[in-house]
Amino acid sequence: MTIPETLDFTQENVKAPLVDAVKYAIDNPTYQFHIPGHTKGLGVYSDFKNLIGKKAFLVDTTDEFDNLGTLNPATGPIKKAQELAASTFGAKKTFFLLNGSTIGNLAIAMGITKKGQKIITNRNCHRSVLTGMIISGAQPLWLVPRRLDEWGIWGSVQPEDVEELLEHNNDVAMVWLTNPTYEGVVSDVKSISLICKKYNVPLVVDEAHGCLWRFNKHLPTSSLDLGADAVIHSLHKTGGSMSQSSMLHISENSILDTDKIEKALKLLHTTSPSIMLLASLDAARAYLESNKGKNHVENTVKNAKYLRKRIDNIPNMHHLKSDFRYQTDVTKIFIKSDGLSGKRLESILEIDFKIEVESASDVGLLILSNIGNKRSDFEYLADCLEKISKKEYSDICYLENKKHMPMLTPIIRMNIQDAFYSEKETVLKEHSIGRIAGEIIAECPPGISILIPGELITEEHMAYLEDYDCVEVIKA
Ligand SMILES: Cc1ncc(COP(=O)(O)O)c(C=O)c1O
Repeated sequence: MTIPETLDFTQENVKAPLVDAVKYAIDNPTYQFHIPGHTKGLGVYSDFKNLIGKKAFLVDTTDEFDNLGTLNPATGPIKKAQELAASTFGAKKTFFLLNGSTIGNLAIAMGITKKGQKIITNRNCHRSVLTGMIISGAQPLWLVPRRLDEWGIWGSVQPEDVEELLEHNNDVAMVWLTNPTYEGVVSDVKSISLICKKYNVPLVVDEAHGCLWRFNKHLPTSSLDLGADAVIHSLHKTGGSMSQSSMLHISENSILDTDKIEKALKLLHTTSPSIMLLASLDAARAYLESNKGKNHVENTVKNAKYLRKRIDNIPNMHHLKSDFRYQTDVTKIFIKSDGLSGKRLESILEIDFKIEVESASDVGLLILSNIGNKRSDFEYLADCLEKISKKEYSDICYLENKKHMPMLTPIIRMNIQDAFYSEKETVLKEHSIGRIAGEIIAECPPGISILIPGELITEEHMAYLEDYDCVEVIKA
């Protein structure tokens, strides 16, 4: 398999067929007697129309009309846009997703796995992976990644752990890996994919946070180029498309049954897909492929490096970087400060400096260097961090006792689906210890579960459940 150094876009020949089709439809309007009922924005609250602009309502239509094609099955300009995306990301087939990467994960579970089958997955998977198991009835075999205790986060998955589980279980439907982690820690997908191939088990990678990787050589290599069978990308997270829009890619040599995934998607998707969101995926792909977009990604990397360098010069602040144990995505900057919790640092940045970060936990906080950020944003942030480092904040230390990053390994006592559909009762949190959970509790971000249906509730869970009075458990 050849891994591209980086894509060569020296020839500017970028097309966006769905964007073009929408433009054409707007320039050639029809008399409309169909959904959406706001009918090009004529039936809407005027303050809202003024807020988002008249044109947004012209774009806000659904598939089937105005020769824009259909999503399920893909036809017309939507199909062309998906084909171009497949080619750009190096896939055999790409599906555009509405309802985010969440629906991609659901379709993977529903399309590929059956009740009772096993899925090897990392404990810090997104809750949509677990929801997928509620739908299909498959059951997790946990990969417990390295714990980066000094950072209070999960680290990379060890290939030998994948091999050990595959060696001892001959009924595994797939290996389902989250890569990178929310904080940007990257696992050795190449080795994991070789192990999966040895056991003839498909590898699906939830690469929700890694859609920029194919567009810059300083970023990690996309799992599509490392042998994964399917990869999910939240284009809306870091790729510049609109919120909720994502992509599911099936790789060239995938051993997965693409039809089954497509059928699952058809059942899960809305029957009124938003053309605005779909066109934003087409636009994001076209932009990333263009020279301008490529330069923008380069600047995103440079800005991240700039911020990291500035933090290197702040004595009591640190940022997570690659070391001999794992690689990181340079654009995700996880910062911690001596003497301040991540949550406290987040509050100071927000209240004193009007800065909003991606997320914060007990230990640190996450900054994203995005394609939409300017260098001056990072100069300002670095200046603020310097100011914070020089000031005494001990008088207002962060008092919350809640733990934010679920770091326990679930003890599963019942099939997730069976537990979810069992008779349940709601009990006071303190009375739930020793009972079996009936619900997913996973706060976003990062959407990693605190409790899973079928999981034994223990004393250790209590520290994460500060905000909950009651928990749903299986009826005794
Ligand atoms: C690893 C991972 N997978 C999937 C998702 C779901 O993505 P979306 O919000 O696009 O539905 C998230 C969301 O945070 C995530 O972090």
